[in-house]
Amino acid sequence: MNSYCLITGAASGIGLEFAKLLAREDHQLILVDKNMEQLMIAKQKLEHQFHSEILILNYDLSQQGVAEKIFKDLEDRLIKINILINNAGFGVFGYFHEANWEKQLELLRLTIETNTHLLRIFLKDMLTRNSGRILNVTSIAAFQPGPLMAVYYASKAYLLSLSRAISNEVKGTGVSVTTLCPGMTRTNFQSFNGNPNPKYGLFCTTAEHVAAFGYKALMKSKSIAIPCFYNRVIANIHRLLPFDTATQFSRKLQERNRENLLNPVN
Ligand SMILES: NC(=O)c1ccc[n+]([C@@H]2O[C@H](COP(=O)([O-])OP(=O)(O)OC[C@H]3O[C@@H](n4cnc5c(N)ncnc54)[C@H](OP(=O)(O)O)[C@@H]3O)[C@@H](O)[C@H]2O)c1
Repeated sequence: MNSYCLITGAASGIGLEFAKLLAREDHQLILVDKNMEQLMIAKQKLEHQFHSEILILNYDLSQQGVAEKIFKDLEDRLIKINILINNAGFGVFGYFHEANWEKQLELLRLTIETNTHLLRIFLKDMLTRNSGRILNVTSIAAFQPGPLMAVYYASKAYLLSLSRAISNEVKGTGVSVTTLCPGMTRTNFQSFNGNPNPKYGLFCTTAEHVAAFGYKALMKSKSIAIPCFYNRVIANIHRLLPFDTATQFSRKLQERNRENLLNPVN
């Protein structure tokens, strides 16, 4: 029987690496992204490399009601999803009161509203079959407040909390929910935040590594997965330092990574 896997934000970065891994394992892929041009390129490359047929769906996941549209679209094609990877995401950098409100709202709709709805809609369906795997991509940002990316950090904290709770609720049903929390990873994510030359430094890994780590955790039905030792330390920094010091630490990381945005050179 065909195993169908739906990946959001699959046109680049971590999502695309998940697509490669799953195609290699003979899963049938449905790739969702708002970037149609990159989606087409990904489809062509993956089909050529893995000789599999890939369905691409061009949706903006910040739009209200989009989760239901995707579910209906797949129902009409008689496709049942066995693996869901809720990966699409982006950040908004800047002081909370100054950063673009429309972008912040889009971020909240995508990370909170759509991810929650996709999780619920596909979980319900998987539970009727007592089978399925879901992976939600959050971030180590989910573990503490993040000055200068406050809405992003807070939205990832919501997703982490939701995902871990549902993982507990579905224990023993045959369906698993895994939360993947990457740290800094070389993808378009950083340049999307307005920084074409991010300071990656030593504490940075590749999208390939993050996807491989997440895939293993997904297949083992782990509830949470944090790739790289240093990310596990950063995720626990609030346990090691007083709360305000830990928040200041997050701020320093943001200032260091994006100092060119805070002090633009004219
Ligand atoms: N890279 C990091 O340092 C890092 C660290 C921690 C967590 N993460 C998380 O990892 C996940 C994947 O990010 P990435 O690093 O792989 O970034 P990426 O290379 O920018 O990939 C994200 C993909 O999601 C798509 N996307 C963004 N908004 C969308 C929307 N509204 N509807 C549909 N598709 C949308 C993007 O399309 P466009 O190209 O059109 O924008 C892009 O193809 C995100 O959830 C991110 O928060 C990343």
